[in-house]
Amino acid sequence: MKKLIYSLFVLFFITSCQNSNLTEKEKFIDNLISQMTIAEKAGQMNQYNGFWDATGPMPEGDYQKKRYNELKNGQVGSMLNVIGVEEIRALQKIAVEETRLGIPLIFGHDVIHGYKTMFPIPLAESSSWDLELMQKSARIAATEASADGLNWTFAPMVDISRDARWGRVMEGAGEDPFLGSLIAKARVRGFQGEDLSEVNTIVACAKHFAGYGFSEAGRDYNTTDFNHYTLHNTIMPPFKAAVDAGVRTFMNSFNTLDEIPATGHKHIQRDILKGDWNFDGFIVSDWGSIDQMIPHGFASNGEHAAELAVIAGSDMDMESSLYVSKLVGLVESGKVNEELLDDAVRRILRVKYELGLFDDPYKYCDQDRSDSELGSEENMMVALDAAKKSIVLLKNDNGLLPLKKQNQKIAIIGQLANDKNSTLGNWRSQVEYNSAVSVVEGMKKYKGNKTIYQKGVDLYYGETNFHNRVKINFKDKSDFGKAKLAAATSDVVIMVLGEEGHQSGEGRSRTNIDLPGLQKELLKEIKKVNKNIVLVVMSGRPLDLTWEDVNIPAIVQAWQLGSKSGDAIAQVLYGDYNPSGKLTMSFPRNVGQVPVYYNFKNTGRPSTSIEQVTNSGYADVENSPLYSFGYGLSYTEFKYSDFEISSSTMTKDSKINASIRVTNTGNYKGEEVVQLYLRDIVGSIARPMKELKGFEKIELNPGESKIVNFEIENSLLEFYSYNNVWESEPGKFHVFIGTDSNVRDHKEFYLTN
Ligand code: NOJ
Repeated sequence: MKKLIYSLFVLFFITSCQNSNLTEKEKFIDNLISQMTIAEKAGQMNQYNGFWDATGPMPEGDYQKKRYNELKNGQVGSMLNVIGVEEIRALQKIAVEETRLGIPLIFGHDVIHGYKTMFPIPLAESSSWDLELMQKSARIAATEASADGLNWTFAPMVDISRDARWGRVMEGAGEDPFLGSLIAKARVRGFQGEDLSEVNTIVACAKHFAGYGFSEAGRDYNTTDFNHYTLHNTIMPPFKAAVDAGVRTFMNSFNTLDEIPATGHKHIQRDILKGDWNFDGFIVSDWGSIDQMIPHGFASNGEHAAELAVIAGSDMDMESSLYVSKLVGLVESGKVNEELLDDAVRRILRVKYELGLFDDPYKYCDQDRSDSELGSEENMMVALDAAKKSIVLLKNDNGLLPLKKQNQKIAIIGQLANDKNSTLGNWRSQVEYNSAVSVVEGMKKYKGNKTIYQKGVDLYYGETNFHNRVKINFKDKSDFGKAKLAAATSDVVIMVLGEEGHQSGEGRSRTNIDLPGLQKELLKEIKKVNKNIVLVVMSGRPLDLTWEDVNIPAIVQAWQLGSKSGDAIAQVLYGDYNPSGKLTMSFPRNVGQVPVYYNFKNTGRPSTSIEQVTNSGYADVENSPLYSFGYGLSYTEFKYSDFEISSSTMTKDSKINASIRVTNTGNYKGEEVVQLYLRDIVGSIARPMKELKGFEKIELNPGESKIVNFEIENSLLEFYSYNNVWESEPGKFHVFIGTDSNVRDHKEFYLTN
């Protein structure tokens, strides 16, 4: 390190006069780059997965030794999945003390919905529509991860997704670009904090750039097919929002778009992201995605793949080993201009500099912090709050919920009710196994009632983990009888059914999105003996709940809610928290309806009933989803009235105020997400039937009412038009304000020139 600092000091001195316009940061980086060999530059662009227990014996085996030598030779710039202060310190020491230039490593990990304190999976948390809360949970995740040595997370995933078959919907914020953009900003701000050089902040990563959420037929890693208006109007906004919020890294994606693998897509990476949007952080490839351009049929071999990726603007190679092995040759042969490497390295060093790694490469390696800051009670309380706010009440006939607190016999049925692991969600690698509060535990805290638990049926068997398929039970019904008996002798039955936490997530696409295994059969059997059923659905995606909607009186969507899951569910079921979540992704009537989303285009033959034959509808189900975007019930009722807009015309420079009175007409205090939608009636391209353009979450006591105001200004009317620019177009607009995206009542205004 001393060696490096001395030589840098000399270089600073010599060059500072020449570079007087550059900031200290850029001068430092330029000077460092000027000392680097091509191999060292390629090294900075190389990221390896943890390959060796650095606090244990020397690496064994050719592959590990090769990587170890590369690390010592300054040919590794970053590592992922190295966990814990001691491991990270040991590897950082090699980079800093044994390499020629002593450039520190940046350590990345998928800190997606918590680290030791687990928050709801992102799709669930987005249902809270509570941006402050999402920023806070990302802040806590960053505090915990940084206390454990990490300084970079591969989050947030800001992919818009409309297809519940795609397992990764759990990691995003649903189907809407407006809400998705606000959530992207909140999460980036949460992870990165005010100042990246603070020890409790980490670098965020907007992923997956771009279009990954549109994988055909919901099959993970599949190709995509969408037009460039969809790219700009639907897919790009959350990425742009992340840039506006100061995100320092991007990850590209596995899919092709416009038939070109995203990793080799020069237009989106260089022209849009680094060009139009002025992004000066760096882009990491997704795992092996440079190498995967070969099977895509886009690159003929590893050398070609590295060449295409670096030219397209992929700055860091996650686990393909192609930059480290091919870039030197590519530069020497003249196929790749060394300036491209300089640009990539400059971006990477910039982020390392901003983290303060050049001042203190071990700043995140503080065992005391790690011992004291992970999973604190305070953090757990935020996880509980987030879990409660993420729950969506889908149905509640005859006020079955909230449950009475005294003298009730309650049967709790379903393997997931007693599961302390599944609800920790998909990205749960650092959390203690079986550490979540189960539903059974949460419910037992209410002592006034008698609870009895019966599994009823195994949803899955064996161990579940990130790399294996969850083994679903399709055979063993031997516990049905005991569950039926418990249900028959109870006042109310709580059925906790759904997916295991590893049934959604990466590589977890499903063609059937019913309740998996024998769970539905069990539900039907239980219904024969007791109709007072509350179905608590734990899932990482919207499931097909059409049968349940018809047959079960109360349905609670409880996702995978993290560490405090069972407490949150119990508090909602007992009414100590009045549910306020609203869906951010439509629930289809059946899998044949996907992709289904609220902001669709009208078509030339819109359908209003299944009886219409030559209209754009189905013969068997309506076009509308079972539960729409923005939908979610409360134990209380909200009445909307006095809808007004301040003017029926506006110009690009003026504003219109839209207001509505919301009254709590029920018996419980409750929160409501009041939603503003706009429709642009005629455009240079066909426009969506409705687009969310604002919302406010309000809390009202019974009998209380509040006027909610929204300001409509030109920026809300803009879209990526036929002219290939963001602009508004004069004409007629409809304004809707309501409780969900089904709202029909509207006012009209004109945008004039
Ligand atoms: C592949 C996933 O697509 C990406 O989201 C994740 O960050 C990387 N693996 C690293 O684990």
